[in-house]
Amino acid sequence: MGMKSDIKLIDDNGLRIDGRLPNQLRPIKMKVGVLQRADGSAYIEWGGNRIMAAVYGPREAYPKHVQEPDKAIVRARYSMAAFSVDERKRPGPDRRSIELGKVISEALESVIFVEKYPRTSIDVYIEVLQADAGTRVAGITVAALALADAGIPMRDLIVGCAAGKVDGVVVLDLNKEEDNYGEADVPMAILPRTKEIALLQMDGDMTYEELKAAMDMTFEATQSIHKMQIEALKRKYMEVE
Ligand code: CDP
Repeated sequence: MGMKSDIKLIDDNGLRIDGRLPNQLRPIKMKVGVLQRADGSAYIEWGGNRIMAAVYGPREAYPKHVQEPDKAIVRARYSMAAFSVDERKRPGPDRRSIELGKVISEALESVIFVEKYPRTSIDVYIEVLQADAGTRVAGITVAALALADAGIPMRDLIVGCAAGKVDGVVVLDLNKEEDNYGEADVPMAILPRTKEIALLQMDGDMTYEELKAAMDMTFEATQSIHKMQIEALKRKYMEVE
C-alpha cells in the first residue's frame, strides 16, 4: 500500500487494470461441504484468491485453562500456503497471520451464539492456497459458510469485503496490483441483516468523504455476496447424493 509507482491503475475510460468498474466485484464462486472430516467446511474462489475453511466444534476446549465457564471460545487460524504468493512465503505463523487470526476470531465470535456452548472451543481453520489481495475478507466470508455447514447457531451469515482508493478513485474489492500500488485499503466485515460492522481496518490514507464512499460501496456489495452465500448453502443441502 502506498508504494509510489508509474503504473496507471485507472484508464482514460475510468476502468481498472482488470477491466472492472470502480464499484464492481471480482468473480466469486463458493462451495459448501468440501471436506469429509471437518464438522463444517467451505471453499471460495474470489478473483485470484483460493481459500479453504474448515470448522471443528463446538468441542471441549483444550488445554483446559483456555475454557470459559460461560461461553465457547472462537479460535480462527489464518494460514497462507508457501506456494500461495509469487515470492515463496516462509511456512508457519508470522506476525501478519497472527494478527489476521485474531481479528477474524473477533469478527466471527461477534455473530456466533457462544453462550450456548460453555467450556468449548470452535476452531476455524482458514487456509489460503492462492492469494490475490482481500484474503482476510474472503476468509471471513468462507468461514461463515463453514460455520453454517457445521450447524453452529449464528445471529447472521457474516460477509467480508474490502474497498479502497487507487489513482484517487474510490474502488471496491482491490486486486493485488491495486492493493500494492493504491492509496488505501479498507477491509470490512458486515452482518448483512442489521448492517452492523464486525471488522473495520484501514491501511493507507483517505479523506472522511472517501472513507464514507468506500464503506457505502462495501455495504452494497456485501448484500450481493450474502445472496451468493445463501445460494451456496442451498446447493449443498438440495444435492441428491
Ligand atoms: O490479503 P489481505 O488483503 O487481507 O491482506 P494484506 O496483508 O493487505 O495482503 C494483501 C496481499 O498481499 C495478499 O492477499 C497477498 O496477495 C499479498 N501478500 C504476499 O504476496 N506475501 C505476503 N507475505 C503477504 C501478503
